[in-house]
Amino acid sequence: MASSSKPEGSMLWGGRFTGGLDPLMVKYNESIYFDRVLYKQDILGSIAFARANAKAGIITQDEFQQIERGLREVEKEWQAGTFTIVPGVDEDIHTANERRLGEIIGKQVAGKLHTGRSRNEQVVCDMRMWLRDELRQIESHLVAFLRVLAARAEQEIDLVMPGYTHLQRAQPIRWSHWLLSYGLAFAADLERLREVISRVNRNPLGCGALAGNPFGLDRDMITKELGFDGLLWNSMGGVADRDFVTETLQWGSMLMQHVSRWAEDLIIYSTAEFGFVRLADAYSTGSSLMPQKKNPDSLELLRGKSGRAFGHMAGFMMTQKGLPSTYNKDLQESVEPMLDHVKTVSDSIQIANGVLATLTTNAEKMRAALDPFMLATDVADYLVRKGVPFRETHHISGRCVAKSEETGIPMNELSYEQMKAIDPRFEEDISEAFNYDTSVERRSAKGGTSKSSVMEQIKVLEEMLG
Ligand code: ARG
Repeated sequence: MASSSKPEGSMLWGGRFTGGLDPLMVKYNESIYFDRVLYKQDILGSIAFARANAKAGIITQDEFQQIERGLREVEKEWQAGTFTIVPGVDEDIHTANERRLGEIIGKQVAGKLHTGRSRNEQVVCDMRMWLRDELRQIESHLVAFLRVLAARAEQEIDLVMPGYTHLQRAQPIRWSHWLLSYGLAFAADLERLREVISRVNRNPLGCGALAGNPFGLDRDMITKELGFDGLLWNSMGGVADRDFVTETLQWGSMLMQHVSRWAEDLIIYSTAEFGFVRLADAYSTGSSLMPQKKNPDSLELLRGKSGRAFGHMAGFMMTQKGLPSTYNKDLQESVEPMLDHVKTVSDSIQIANGVLATLTTNAEKMRAALDPFMLATDVADYLVRKGVPFRETHHISGRCVAKSEETGIPMNELSYEQMKAIDPRFEEDISEAFNYDTSVERRSAKGGTSKSSVMEQIKVLEEMLG
């Protein structure tokens, strides 16, 4: 390969390098085209670092002020979209900002900014600040989604529909109970997220390349200025640690798994065969060929994008496995999965919120899907209340099911005599067992599908939102 056309020494670390880089290696190595999203955090981190160096007497107050002013200029250029990346020179956001600072305030003073600092600590400082802010946004999206879910659960508490196991009709449940089955899983995601944020929000600045800072840097001052909740206490661990990314990817993967299952249920419920729900036009699309089609694309994308979220998690865990201690360039591979994952998760929660806020439910279709066989357990429970052991009642109720199948008479329409013939302990009041509303209302122990239990779940959920 031909050597690079860049004159030696133009790279910020160029001092000891004599030959140029393979041009493909330049591209292979650079991260500026994705880590430039961290420009603001990089500038804030540099200002805090320079301020602490001024306090330590490593640079003068005047030099600090020049650096701060210059960095604010650089920030404005990024904001205005006028920052020009120099290809092949601006390897990453850290070198790009420093290069530009030198052009603005002069290399003499700009060259002092990096005193005692390494990009190893700088990159994680930027990433942690960025991620903390993004995760807080995601937290608010998740809370908003759960508020919609709780409000719907309360409003539509009277809707009764089939509950499924093995995707077979099992027992009648409230629609709100179904909603809350996911709602509480998402609320656990919220609790986990808050914990993740507290571990993400730790200050790595002052760790140096790996061994720490030699100039008596006041790390606590930096922690405060940058809004971190605390320090990373070991400098070697501080530069090596991407657990804050891994944990975010794991967190988001679990959330997306919940989102995906939730979406799958709704896809099924929105088919003509079920018809329990209907998606708003805003979250559906048509077919280019079949004019009658209205497809639940939003839900399919939610389900589909979960695969991408899990993939980033698995991929990045593989990247880290077997790395020797402290910083290795492999760790640069943490940035893109983080960016994509955060966007995927953030967008997905907002889309899920939109879908849920706008879909319409069809109470009649839900009711029509109920089947008397779904009350077979209630028939067994009826005899339990008369003192018959459940193992026996299960069989007796099974015989009623068989009778119904054999005669073609719906189970709730079997005559009292037919029931009595199956077991003499059936009495006239057995007819009360064949009521879907009574069935759901009986499940009134905490966590069940009765109205009072569901209302209690809504309260529990709302308390978790904080
Ligand atoms: N772009 C690099 C990354 O994302 C910054 C750290 C570079 N450190 C180094 N020693 N080369 O990891």
